This record gives sequence, C-alpha cells and structure tokens, in this order.
Amino acid sequence: MATIFEQESRTFSEYLLVPNLTTEKNTPDQVDLSAPICKYRKGQEESKLKINIPVVSAVMQAVSDDGMAIALARCGGMSFIFQSQSVESQCEMIRKVKKYKAGIVASDSNVSPDATLEDILKLREEKEHGTVAVTEDGTAEGKLLGLVTTRDYRVSRMSLDEKVSTFMTPIEKLVTAPEGTTLKVANDIIWDNKINQLPIIDKDGRLVGLVFRKDYEFHKANPYELLDADKKLIVGAGINTRDYEERVPALIEAGADALCLDSSDGFSVWQEKALKWIKSNYPDVIVGAGNVVDAEGFKFLADCGADFIKIGIGGGSICITREQKGIGCGQASAVLAVSEARDKYFKETGIYIPLCSDGGIVHDYHMALALAMGADFMMLGRYFARFDESPTRKLLVGGTYVKEYWGEGSNRARNWQRYDDGGKGGKMAFEEGVDSYVPYAGKLKDNLDTSLAKVKATMCSCGSSSVEEFQQKARLVVVSSTSIIEGGAHDVIQKESDRTAR
Ligand code: IMP
Repeated sequence: MATIFEQESRTFSEYLLVPNLTTEKNTPDQVDLSAPICKYRKGQEESKLKINIPVVSAVMQAVSDDGMAIALARCGGMSFIFQSQSVESQCEMIRKVKKYKAGIVASDSNVSPDATLEDILKLREEKEHGTVAVTEDGTAEGKLLGLVTTRDYRVSRMSLDEKVSTFMTPIEKLVTAPEGTTLKVANDIIWDNKINQLPIIDKDGRLVGLVFRKDYEFHKANPYELLDADKKLIVGAGINTRDYEERVPALIEAGADALCLDSSDGFSVWQEKALKWIKSNYPDVIVGAGNVVDAEGFKFLADCGADFIKIGIGGGSICITREQKGIGCGQASAVLAVSEARDKYFKETGIYIPLCSDGGIVHDYHMALALAMGADFMMLGRYFARFDESPTRKLLVGGTYVKEYWGEGSNRARNWQRYDDGGKGGKMAFEEGVDSYVPYAGKLKDNLDTSLAKVKATMCSCGSSSVEEFQQKARLVVVSSTSIIEGGAHDVIQKESDRTAR
C-alpha cells in the first residue's frame, strides 16, 4: 500500500517566527548574510565559494542572462545563467560577465555617424540610459568618432531624421583616456574634468570601454560585490543531464565559477550519471543538483557528490507541475524535511552540504522563513524578473508597467532537458509552466536593499547575527487561517490599494 506522510505539506505563508531576546549585538549593521555555496567540513575549513548575500537568480531565460548576472554579483549575489540555449551562446554570456571590469564597461549603445536622432531615441528607450557611442562601424569596438548624451539634442527643436554626425560631441571635444588606464586614474580624470563618462580608447582610436561616474559611486556604496581572486565578478551556469559532456567543459573554459543541474525532479539516475561524470573529470568544479523535496532525495544527491542541493517541486510562481503531474510538496515542509536530513548527514559525515530553497518566495518575509527553516540561500525567479536588469521586455499593459516572465516548462521556453523523463528526448509532451507578466518594479539594487533590510530586521528580532545562528535559534509557529487574516492590515479602509510590493 502507498505510504501516506503523517504531516500535511505546508507553505511559507503558514508559518511565523516567534521573536527571541534581542541584544546589543543584534543590530542590522552587524548581521552577516553570507552563505556557503559548496559543501565543506564545517568547523575545520571554509567553503571554497561563498556568496555575500543569500540569493541567487533562477536558471531561466526570463531571468538570468549576463546583464542580470553582472547586476546581481555587484550586489553580492550570484546568477546561474540559463542552459536552455546553445552551448556557444551560454558560454558567451559567461565570458561577458567574467570580462566585465567593475568600472570599465563595454558600451552597449552604439551607432554609426549615419544613424538618426530617431535611432538614438529608440536606443535610449531600449537600454534605458542616455549615453551612446558613435563609432565608424557602429560597433562597441569600432573607431570612436564621438558621443551622444541627452545634452546633445533637444527633441522639440530637431527633426527626427537629423544625422548623428551633426549633433554628437565629436572626439576632438571629448576627454578620453588610453587603454591600460587604471580605474583609479580614470575616476580621477572624471572628477577633475567634471564629466559623467570617460571613453577608454586603444592606440588606433578604437573604443575599449566606458567608465561612468555613477558606477564609481555605486562601487563605493557596495561593499558586498562578489568577486573572484582576480577581481572578476562571480557567475554560475545551469546545466542539464543530456549534453553535459559537451556543455560542462565549455562552461569551465569560459570561466563559470559554479554549475547547477537544472531539473524539476532531481531524484533520478540521470543526475547521478551527470554528477559522477563531472566529479570524475573535473573534481574541483562546484556543481549543485536538484530539485528534491525530502530526505530520500537529499541523501541520494549527497551520495552522488552534489556540492549544494536545491529544494522545491511545484512551488514556483509560473509552475504548474503539481497540477499537471501531481508531484511536489509545499515549499516550507520541503525545506524543513531536507534541512533535517542535511543536519543528520553532517552529524554522520562531518560534511555540511548547503541547501538552496528554490521557488515560491512571494513576500520578502518568506526569505527570512526559508533561511530560518534551514536553507543557506534562495533561488528566485519572479522576484528578479520584475527588475530593469532582467532580459525580458517591459510593456505597458492596462495602464501598468509589467515585465514578461515565462516558465522553463512553458511552450515559450521549451526547455525539454529540464523536464527530462529519460525518454528519447528532444520534445516536451506537455507544459509544466506558464507564460505571464509580473509587475515592473524598477532597479534590482533598490529592491534587494529593501528586501534584505527586512531579513536583517527579522534576524535581529530573533536574536541572530548570522544565518547559522538564525537557523539554530529560530522558533516557528504554524498559523491558523484566521490569524493569517489578522496578519495583514484589517478592519480599516486602506488608502493605497497596491500591496503587492510588500
Ligand atoms: P519563482 O521564484 O517562484 O518564480 O520560482 C522560480 C523557480 O521555478 C525556478 O528556479 C525553477 O525551479 C522553477 N521553474 C522555472 N520554470 C518552471 C516551469 O516552467 N515549471 C515549473 N517550475 C519552473
């Protein structure tokens, strides 16, 4: 007869944290949110890779490209670039992140001198910033002829077909610096000349990159930036159980710092084969596996050599796996069950395997709950899809700005490798995800700062200064359906109707 679990499966919103004593030590500035990404002998050594804030962005087309990876690593987190694309294009994204020098950026808005004011306005809307490089061939590496910034044109007084060459600031009037200029010197030049951007050019006058004043300010305000030993941003990559023999070596060569098997159900021999192949060919490469929702799934992947393990089936905002296949588990119960198994594994082996709670984070307080329940870090899709930095289009729908967000199991993504059933493969028999919009929410950093401020405040209320301490001290209570109503504003007429941002 089938096994029926005694406990029903629950989700984050069914729990609250009960505060512990808050002491002088428990102020937000003293909270350490860093998290290990790779298994280690806790108490004897450090994890060989740590992130500075406990969030990673989902292995999804609508979330994690090079732009998101750069923005998130600059804030201290890490992206896993989506694998439902060719090996070449995924590696190209990894290379772009690794090439990104905080401070010297490749120009992403470029035109040739024959372009028109209309082209400039289109680029501005698309890229959402105002600096366009004018190069001989219109590429980011072409010979620099000038710059166009918002100060160079006035739409009300000019015709849309006016040529860029007539209104750009020509190279003769620009302050530039030669290739090899250090960031410090570049910032001094910006400061001394009271300019907002400085083009760096090589000996033939070709554009190498741009240094922006605002980036310097950002850098100063972001002590958490996630950098490798060569001061390059850290980035991860999704992989699948089909083409790993080709994809993994290419990703390693491109510079990926960690890999993650991307699958809706990780309790499978396909993951075992992939993990064993990677570990025997590349023993030093960090590779996470998943997703699982219980102790058996955890133990299986731990024994197969996974460096971190991802938890969650069916909880994602765009996910319809539970409706389609009837498999899954409430996210809170899954995190609690897997954490218990992880702690047992640590007691038995001395090896601590970091856990990632993947999917289903709706409110900011869910982040604190996931950590309290034993996750070391979280993977989020919907959350990041809402920001400027996600790769999808921003649209105006019914008077509200939205961004597109689609599941990897939707017909739009057709990520059949993620939904691998071990058959001949190459197609998806049915959808496990939807194509949707999410409310546009602005800049990643602004939102992340607020979300993490809430996590830190919760940890302080629970008398904790680190994630580990929080996990040990957390006391959780299941809330009744009526007390959930009590938890929101109630019995008042609210002035603001939009409560989704909380
Ligand atoms: P979210 O943060 O709630 O939006 O969940 C994101 C997570 O949902 C991802 O990290 C994946 O684990 C999962 N996911 C992505 N695409 C699909 C899909 O099409 N169906 C089911 N789950 C998905």
